Amino acid sequence: MPHPFTPSSGPSAGQPRRLTPLNDESNWTAKTFSGSNDWIRVLELHHIEEIDAAIRQLAERGITLDTVRAGDLRLPRLQPLLQEFLDFDISQRGFGMIRGFPVRRYTVEQCAMFFWALGTCMGKPVSQNADGDRLGAVRSKGLDFHALNVRGYQTTARLPFHCDPSDVVGLLCINKGKSGGLSSVISGISMYNCVLAEHPEYLDLLYRGFRYDRRGEETFYQKSISDPVPVFSYTEPDLSIRYVRQSMETAQRKLGQPFTPEEREVLDYMEELSQRESLAYSMMLEPGDMQFCNNYTVLHSRTAYEEDAEHPRHLMRLWIKVPGVRKLAPDLIEYDPASGWSRREGIPARDAPMPKDQPDELVAGGTV
Ligand SMILES: [Fe+2]
Repeated sequence: MPHPFTPSSGPSAGQPRRLTPLNDESNWTAKTFSGSNDWIRVLELHHIEEIDAAIRQLAERGITLDTVRAGDLRLPRLQPLLQEFLDFDISQRGFGMIRGFPVRRYTVEQCAMFFWALGTCMGKPVSQNADGDRLGAVRSKGLDFHALNVRGYQTTARLPFHCDPSDVVGLLCINKGKSGGLSSVISGISMYNCVLAEHPEYLDLLYRGFRYDRRGEETFYQKSISDPVPVFSYTEPDLSIRYVRQSMETAQRKLGQPFTPEEREVLDYMEELSQRESLAYSMMLEPGDMQFCNNYTVLHSRTAYEEDAEHPRHLMRLWIKVPGVRKLAPDLIEYDPASGWSRREGIPARDAPMPKDQPDELVAGGTV
């Protein structure tokens, strides 16, 4: 069979398809990291001294999360580590951690200002909700995970495996919970290899994809329910994934169109795959840890947690558009030529102009 194969009929007609397993760095399982800390890069003293001096200088200038701009945070000693981290940990393996940010030395506001500015050293941080928030506060608001228009990070519930919008998601741990709250990652590439081996007949629907609910956060140029977005998409040489089961479910509920039995079977299989202990790798984020995931190759989740009212679990979340992170098909990222928006831009602020009308000045290393 030719490679890549492009079906001429069926639900995913015209979409190139990969028919052979991927066996590069992105194909890992839980066993790959057992007893290994290869996925952690520990900041050295000279990095910490440089970060400390930079934060104090920005604080003296009165710069805050809302006012810090690309170029304000200069970290020449750390930059080579960040570049290696992007080139290998994020672009190839798909996830990694930078450990040792001295979070207790600073106020929460200073940590937020630093984390967002660090994002400008890696790419272009993007908006996380319709209010245009630069950082998401991953902390419980006591909300019900299953209610419509509630986002999982505002609850203490287990989060099913999913991808976030934007190219890369970063988490900075300020406080961990009293118990639970393990952070888990799974390789979408190893999941794809399982599909090829176990259920290649599911590829038609997985390449066609499913509609997504924008959960009431659509802006003036967006529909509230997306067109179908492929679960797997192949733009040679890169295979990518997008999968958020909860948003697919609520899209169908809002449309009043239940999944067909075939669609539910495929999605239940994906859910079962994501829960295989042999595939997913779990870790506890300690204060000062910064975990980053490539949203096109890695799905992430979190176990349910309990928290201490005095010291609630608190993580800061960053979404970053990173130049050249992957070759991406327009339908995977929901690219809209009329507005210039795609999933890479995160969730647009309600009052922001369309991306095509905005200057793209916040991008490290030039245009994205
Ligand atoms: Fe997420």
